Amino acid sequence: MATTNTPARVIVTFPLPEQGQRLLENYACKHDWELIQWRDSEINMTRGQFLDQVNRGADGILCKMTIRIDEDVLARAGDRLKVVSTMTVGCDHIDCCSLKARNVPLGHTPGVLTDATADLAVALTLAVCRRLGEAMQAVCNGEWGAWNPTWLLGTEIRGKTLGVLGLGRIGLATAKRLRAFGVSRLIYHSTKEKPEAAQVDGEFVTLEQLLRESDILCICCSLNASTRHMIGYTQLCAMKPTAILVNVARGDVIVQDDLERALREGKIAAAGLDVTTPEPLPPSHPLANMKNCIVLPHIGSATVETRNAMSVLAVENLLAGLQGRKMPAEYV
Ligand code: DGY
Repeated sequence: MATTNTPARVIVTFPLPEQGQRLLENYACKHDWELIQWRDSEINMTRGQFLDQVNRGADGILCKMTIRIDEDVLARAGDRLKVVSTMTVGCDHIDCCSLKARNVPLGHTPGVLTDATADLAVALTLAVCRRLGEAMQAVCNGEWGAWNPTWLLGTEIRGKTLGVLGLGRIGLATAKRLRAFGVSRLIYHSTKEKPEAAQVDGEFVTLEQLLRESDILCICCSLNASTRHMIGYTQLCAMKPTAILVNVARGDVIVQDDLERALREGKIAAAGLDVTTPEPLPPSHPLANMKNCIVLPHIGSATVETRNAMSVLAVENLLAGLQGRKMPAEYV
């Protein structure tokens, strides 16, 4: 256990966006932390490099989703560890039960990335509906010939049934935005019926109904034991052959090989994925090369404003945890 005279040893596994980095350095200086930070933004800190540092002692850890914080990490850190803070809203890379058992508080970054992620969900939905990936590729490939009234026809959002899997903060913000495009009906499936669904005139349905009736299905749920691989071949076959699937949650909500098969066999029309398994998805992966699939490199929260806000919140959570105070955003 670090005494009051021992400076807190803080491990940060990546360089933070500007505002968070500035705050981190201020706090490190003011509170005399021994700050161990991975500074390379192009290459991730490896698990081995991280464990090496944890072995040398850690009072606080600030991480992102590229390193699993599991029992092994916690055992190495021992009683000295006072806080884990992740610069993500999703905590599927963290063994939350082990943290709880060891009484180590976990901070995350909800709320500040809702708008950016919902904006991206809309962008991806439109990109898939209007075949933007194919259209851009056609220009690059010199396939843009005479204006052809039947070339690259997409589909409209207006008049469609929008399905949302997971009506949390991001699901609701996405639903509000897509409502403005004139969807005729909005259905959702979540762990339970949500009163806030009234804001979008949303109708709670079973998963089966959601799959069967959605023209556009946006996956916005968190990844946990009950949502992992929730959408497999059987579920995809239950969807309309004209349906569009958009995933801004986590790749593992879907059985990815099944999605590839369903797209190839025309069980659904097209997909837009901001998240995959693994990340990064190798460029040679079939999903990265299918006309009816748009893959983005997990950029849901990637705006200057949002990433700064996430980094500041993550640092504030870290400081609060180190000081034994209530965090601004503790994961429960
Ligand atoms: C998160 O925060 O969980 C996102 O996936 C990255 O912004």
